[in-house]
Amino acid sequence: MIASDLSGRRLTLDDAAAGARLSDLAGWSGTVEDWRARIAHTGGFGLYDLKGLLVAAGLVFAFAPRMGFIGNILVDPDWRGRGLGRLMTQRCMAMLQAMRLPIYLIATQLGLPIYLKLGFTEIDKLVHLRQRAGEGRRSGPSNGAVRPMMRDDIDAVLDLDARVYGGDRAIMLQPHLSEQPIRGVVAIAAGRVAGYACVANRRTYGGIGPLVAKDTAVALALVRALAPQMPGLIGCDVPAYQTDFIAALKSEGYRRAEAVPFMGYQTDRAWPFARPAELFAGAARAAC
Ligand SMILES: CC(C)(COP(=O)(O)OP(=O)(O)OC[C@H]1O[C@@H](n2cnc3c(N)ncnc32)[C@H](O)[C@@H]1OP(=O)(O)O)[C@@H](O)C(=O)NCCC(=O)NCCS
Repeated sequence: MIASDLSGRRLTLDDAAAGARLSDLAGWSGTVEDWRARIAHTGGFGLYDLKGLLVAAGLVFAFAPRMGFIGNILVDPDWRGRGLGRLMTQRCMAMLQAMRLPIYLIATQLGLPIYLKLGFTEIDKLVHLRQRAGEGRRSGPSNGAVRPMMRDDIDAVLDLDARVYGGDRAIMLQPHLSEQPIRGVVAIAAGRVAGYACVANRRTYGGIGPLVAKDTAVALALVRALAPQMPGLIGCDVPAYQTDFIAALKSEGYRRAEAVPFMGYQTDRAWPFARPAELFAGAARAAC
């Protein structure tokens, strides 16, 4: 039963620090800046205790007309097992349903029972590959057409991302693109941006993604350019259909750690992206 001493409302930008606290409690890496960008994207819902502390939250990301995503369903450990995770998911579903968008999400083991009960089904998996910095083989050609991403590349990167993804992710990518130097690389072909990859460097974990490229060779070249700059553990979440890329990463020493379900609500569509063949890694763990 849901406690009556909780109140709910839409998240505002002022909730970013409280959201980052929930990420911390779950062992996730979302920073205050990440939360600001995500709340600004479409919005979210939160539950607050009597002292005004955010104890549960969920975010939605609308990419009209193709898709809406639910993310960051988080409940303070002190409040788990009382239906709040389910309630947050339902609130987020209602927000996207009001926008008439098909609903998708990436499920963790803890979230999976909730989503299955609410009618989500698995479309495919995201495969998490990882290796320790300095391990593995990175001796292959690193493709001379890959270079650090610069401010002047940003418009082309956002344009490519929107065409491949099928929605404008500019606000979500801002935390990646607003730092100097930018934490990313681009691949250039025929004078144009043919691929890009960003990196989220946290204390102990470096996530590669999003990664968009015209083919597997370019995707691999982007990873090769980024990986040597990353500390600790390096991870990459790759859609399971990118079998050649997964095999290539394994041959470079990356190990398959786990696979998490990519789910849709009452949809039998495949991956909803506009050009899935060119999407090689999501930002899931890199920014969660
Ligand atoms: C996932 C999470 C949000 C769940 O929050 P919660 O408030 O404890 O979940 P709820 O109490 O709403 O549980 C909802 C349903 O799932 C069931 N459930 C929850 N955990 C379960 C488990 N480990 N095994 C089986 N069923 C489970 C509950 O029985 C409940 O079903 P019911 O409504 O039919 O009784 C919470 O564990 C969390 O914040 N985890 C860390 C972050 C995370 O993984 N988020 C999910 C992102 S995809």
